[in-house]
Amino acid sequence: MQFQWYPGHMTKAKRQMQEDMKLIDLVIELVDARIPLSSRNPDIDELGRNKARLILLNKSDLADEAAGRAWAEYFKAKGCFVVALDARSKTGMKQVTAVVMEACREKIERDRKRGIVNRPVRAMVVGIPNVGKSTFINSYAGKACAKTGNKPGVTKGKQWIRLNKNVELLDTSGILWPKFEDQSVGLKLALIGAIKDEILNIDELSLELIKVLTEFYPGVLNARYGTDGQPIDEAAKPAEILGQIAANRKCMARGDELDYSKAAALLIDEFRSGRLGRITLERPKE
Ligand code: G4P
Repeated sequence: MQFQWYPGHMTKAKRQMQEDMKLIDLVIELVDARIPLSSRNPDIDELGRNKARLILLNKSDLADEAAGRAWAEYFKAKGCFVVALDARSKTGMKQVTAVVMEACREKIERDRKRGIVNRPVRAMVVGIPNVGKSTFINSYAGKACAKTGNKPGVTKGKQWIRLNKNVELLDTSGILWPKFEDQSVGLKLALIGAIKDEILNIDELSLELIKVLTEFYPGVLNARYGTDGQPIDEAAKPAEILGQIAANRKCMARGDELDYSKAAALLIDEFRSGRLGRITLERPKE
């Protein structure tokens, strides 16, 4: 994270979000497609109850497509609409508007029955830091749309971005904090680079990554780090696998000792830069 969360921040952020929720019909929640659960704060389920919900599996370009489909099913079963997205290249962006309308169909219908027509759907973007909220807002809103400005008496101090005749977006996103007190959540956030490296134990992180890779992506470690004479034994314990990577990549400390930390850093770097392929670090449980 770019910043630390303290209880005071969290209370303030939550209160702000409670206020903003009163103004909107739809919550657009961004999660990181590589860790769709660990990159969200479940408090949003409570904060956004009674609202239409759209979950964007962002950074899908870095995640595994099959796992993405499983996650989409998982969130749909919870009553959310889901779109897999790459906010940077805008892949999937066209689908968003259609799904926004679909998600708000009930509300539009309700309005119509009350004689309210052409009232735009109001939406708000939420998510933990670094999931791509501002990238998404910029891509989605594009240059074409104008800010509608303050509407005194109705939404004092709030700026709305008019996306088209049907949708308005609150121009500041709601920032949620991750559930970092859960150790495995913290490790996964760290693996995708969402927590600063200086405060991390790089060896421990690499062991977590090795566990995930051998479980969900058998063969990947051997393909990248094995040699004809020295294949990676993926059935070995994670620390032993790290040793094999160190040996094959000649990560040596003083003398002829293996440098585990160097191998750990190498592995994490190659994962983050996509050289191990498109990888999703967690799967839905049920
Ligand atoms: P935030 O508002 O939620 O905090 O996130 P922000 O949009 O600032 O995005 C955080 C980083 O994630 C940015 O990279 C952004 O480019 C990148 N990003 C956003 N969406 C996607 C996506 O769908 N795929 C990929 N691969 N990356 C995405 P950065 O390194 O901070 O900046 P830069 O490299 O773009 O300069």
